[in-house]
Amino acid sequence: MARYQAPRGTQDVLPDDQPYWQWVLGTARDVAAKYGFWPIEVPVFEETEVFVRGVGTGTDIVEKEMYTFEDRGGRSLTLRPEFTAGIVRAYIEHGMRVRPQPVKLYAIGPVFRYEAPQAGRYRQHTQFSCESIGEADPLADFEIMSVAWDLYTALGFRELQFQLNSIGCPRCRPPYIRDVLVPYLHSRRDELSKLDLERLQKNPLRVLDTKEPESQPVVNEAPSIVEHLCSECSEHFAQLRFYLDMLERPYELNPRLVRGLDYYTRTVFEVTAQGLGAQNAVGGGGRYDGLVEVLGGAPTPGVGFAAGIERIVLALKAQGIAPPSMPAPRVFFVHRGRLAKDAAVALADQVRRRGVGALVAFGERSIKAQMRQASKSGAEYVVIIGDEELARGEVQVKHLETGHQEAVVQANLVAWLHERLVAHPSP
Ligand code: HAM
Repeated sequence: MARYQAPRGTQDVLPDDQPYWQWVLGTARDVAAKYGFWPIEVPVFEETEVFVRGVGTGTDIVEKEMYTFEDRGGRSLTLRPEFTAGIVRAYIEHGMRVRPQPVKLYAIGPVFRYEAPQAGRYRQHTQFSCESIGEADPLADFEIMSVAWDLYTALGFRELQFQLNSIGCPRCRPPYIRDVLVPYLHSRRDELSKLDLERLQKNPLRVLDTKEPESQPVVNEAPSIVEHLCSECSEHFAQLRFYLDMLERPYELNPRLVRGLDYYTRTVFEVTAQGLGAQNAVGGGGRYDGLVEVLGGAPTPGVGFAAGIERIVLALKAQGIAPPSMPAPRVFFVHRGRLAKDAAVALADQVRRRGVGALVAFGERSIKAQMRQASKSGAEYVVIIGDEELARGEVQVKHLETGHQEAVVQANLVAWLHERLVAHPSP
């Protein structure tokens, strides 16, 4: 066993998995660009307050899952447990409200949560987070859901499920919780699990998405928040559903979906995929109309979602969906003799300058051994250079798939390869 292992809950993404990763990330960038989202980079850590205030003090993330540390200057910093709060902090700090609204941004990178590791749940995972800040129109919610939809469908997912709910606003949610939900849960408190009784004290809404088996009958019959929305929230939700129906995006209304971050208002949604077991959410998001203000900006609406890349890759594998292969260098130089090796090094350099990937065999192995390396490398053409051929100003070029081999004048080699691999590639 190796002396050191990656820390618990983290993982290496090895070369064999890269075709999945590059495909998923490339697709995410393409989809985001199609909707006019721009990339943003934000720090991996922020002042702890940004997440405490942004994500909310009563949440699992803030209470139990943050990697918080003091730096050498005595500041409390936290490794980002999500992107949204940091992106909103950047929006405020850089005065982005003077730009045309909404400001549409996306980020890709690692996020950190101290969770109990299991399949699909890690302490470091990677998110594609897409945020649309400055627009209250339900069309912005629809657009965010569409980005999610386009991403998962472009990857070929089958049996996707979109769960949708509205959890209202600061005007209609508190009365629902106080006058409807809490009295109901109290009336059936004997049937709730111990954990849910605690939640009932601290954050009653979270009882609704409990996973505790014994509490299920109670929450299944709980009065739905959707029936207690104020007229603005109700209309907003109806308009979002109108767009989803108009474009035939299937979804399921789930009155129990509340999500684990405190900043949500109105729309919340989650996307699940088959083949993942318990941790089956490949993405989730919603509207956060109060977040900019909570972090010190002017009242500004916002909506966004994030996808978990590790879970997407797991689900792709579980569903037997293969990524496109990644391009290997297409030319491999094999050489026999000292001068031939030098010529191979120089020719490979010229080939790369014309935009074609090339490899040169290391060392001085037999031609046979080098040919074996060439076939394993995934190259299409092998250029074979020997001292004698070189003296004649020629090289041999072999097409690995067909086995066809021919002599090419050394001075023409770069143009010859360019013609076949770049200018007029065979299908
Ligand atoms: P979230 O639901 O906490 O939302 O995370 C988004 C996605 O990240 C999840 O659906 C899941 O795919 C993945 N994920 C979360 N935790 C883990 C984990 N421990 N291991 C592996 N994957 C995980 C947010 O973070 C919000 N910021 C989303 C958002 C953006 N809402 C508005 N804008």
